[in-house]
Amino acid sequence: MSVNLHFSFIREEMTISANNGQKIQQICLGLRPMNLSLEGKKALVCGSSQGIGFAVAEQLALMGAHCTLFARNKQSLEEAVARLDISLRQQHQVLVADFSNPDNVKLVLNEWAKENHVHILVNNSGGPPSGPITEARDIDFLAAFNQHLICNHIITLAVMDSMKEAGFGRIINIISTSVKVPLKNLGVSNTIRGAVASWAKTMANELGQFNITVNNVLPGATRTNRLKNIIEKSAEKTKLAESVLEEQMIQEIPARRFGEPEEIAAMVAFLASPAAAYVNGTSIPVDGGRTGSI
Ligand SMILES: NC(=O)c1ccc[n+]([C@@H]2O[C@H](COP(=O)([O-])OP(=O)(O)OC[C@H]3O[C@@H](n4cnc5c(N)ncnc54)[C@H](OP(=O)(O)O)[C@@H]3O)[C@@H](O)[C@H]2O)c1
Repeated sequence: MSVNLHFSFIREEMTISANNGQKIQQICLGLRPMNLSLEGKKALVCGSSQGIGFAVAEQLALMGAHCTLFARNKQSLEEAVARLDISLRQQHQVLVADFSNPDNVKLVLNEWAKENHVHILVNNSGGPPSGPITEARDIDFLAAFNQHLICNHIITLAVMDSMKEAGFGRIINIISTSVKVPLKNLGVSNTIRGAVASWAKTMANELGQFNITVNNVLPGATRTNRLKNIIEKSAEKTKLAESVLEEQMIQEIPARRFGEPEEIAAMVAFLASPAAAYVNGTSIPVDGGRTGSI
């Protein structure tokens, strides 16, 4: 019987002779390390001047990828790009646009994509402002929808054909654990994150046949400026000390600590690697165990 498995990185075929002289073909799954190399791959990492996005770019560069850092502030992007690994002659660059203006993102990206191919796309940007859903205005939902869903879509469409041509594509969306369990005081964010996760799953269904995977990484409370701002705002509102609020949040996390951006980046980097070829259409929390769903 011939079995056609696509585990090329650990798959070996050998023909052995049975006692009765019959030749038997065996497929051996060898004990080689999984392939995490991104040498020669080109990554577009959005929201990457700081925080989780920057940690992702740092890790992808260390694995050999050429990275394009994309956000609003050119100076912070240039400072960030200068910190990426270049020991494998990776060539990094920056791209500037404000995701609150999808037309501008489309213009900038379509122009850039004419000259640049992408194998790995990380969709990410700043999170929507916090607050209860009962205080959210129509325009708050529209702004978050534009910045998160519409921009993800525009960017994905702009780079999708180059992934198809290469026969290799990884689209990884940084969302939030609120995809699984809504978080307190993040009404607009909870709502929009669900839409992004559903968009991603639909994309995964359509793009899987081209060796393009689409997955979501869901960070829990992670030490970045975003988390700092949320705690500061909450302290203002509740009149509690920031340290008290931090401690309350930490008590809800089985790991009893906040995550580091590098810990989110490690999951993104795995999903971007050749080793993750068969992981598609998933939403993976990286949250120290906080999310209360199975
Ligand atoms: N940190 C957490 O605890 C946590 C938890 C769950 C989910 N998340 C989500 O994960 C994502 C990243 O969070 P983070 O903590 O890394 O945030 P962060 O430290 O605030 O970084 C946000 C990044 O996005 C860029 N950005 C912000 N607004 C943008 C815009 N309008 N257009 C283009 N780029 C923009 C920023 O660069 P510029 O300012 O230069 O544009 C920056 O590089 C967010 O969606 C956040 O809500 C974070």
